Amino acid sequence: MDFAKRLIDWYLQNKRDLPWRETVDPYKIWLSEIMLQQTRVSQGMPYYFAFTEAFPTVFDLANADEQQVLKLWQGLGYYSRARNLHSTAKTIAFDYTGNFPESYKELLHLKGVGDYTAAAIASFSYGEAVPVVDGNVFRVLARYFDVETDIASPKAKKEFATLAFELMPKDNPAIFNQAIMEFGALQCVPKNPDCAVCPMNDSCLALQKGKVAKLPVKLKK
Ligand code: ADE
Repeated sequence: MDFAKRLIDWYLQNKRDLPWRETVDPYKIWLSEIMLQQTRVSQGMPYYFAFTEAFPTVFDLANADEQQVLKLWQGLGYYSRARNLHSTAKTIAFDYTGNFPESYKELLHLKGVGDYTAAAIASFSYGEAVPVVDGNVFRVLARYFDVETDIASPKAKKEFATLAFELMPKDNPAIFNQAIMEFGALQCVPKNPDCAVCPMNDSCLALQKGKVAKLPVKLKK
């Protein structure tokens, strides 16, 4: 069975019920992905509920005053994220008449939206076949395929994105992206993964070669 199919089967049996997976609203996906940068799911979750309740649409967020936004953000840290969030909400509400751009390429024009966030919104909201590449994705692919590329190197993102794109089922990129991140977060964890119970353990190259703890390679910058 191929990588994507096994990954997705694992995901359907093991995934957490996370509120931003219940929606295809690009506003809510965007909000969740900005919040989850440098933040654990368990820490981000109450903020996601607070924000979607206080600001159910991008217009509500755009029209809020900055102090209210920063107050609700209190405790999440990296306050530039909250300022960018508010500023981008205004751009969407007033320059884009409330509609998020509908492609990966156009999403990249938004302030605070980089490769990862654009790929997340494009795939989760619009079903565009663009892979997300975060720390989880680096780790899962580096181990399974024994990729020794330094993940801190300039070429790493492109290389892993190309590999992820090849593996991704083009008729359901969203589930593949969710699945690979969830697999990295729950099963193929950074330290001491329990490879004995891993559904991919018969074909993981790092496991076969005794390199699980060595991958991914991350050299000091
Ligand atoms: N971390 C960042 N994005 C996530 C998502 N969509 N699901 C779970 N964890 C995440």
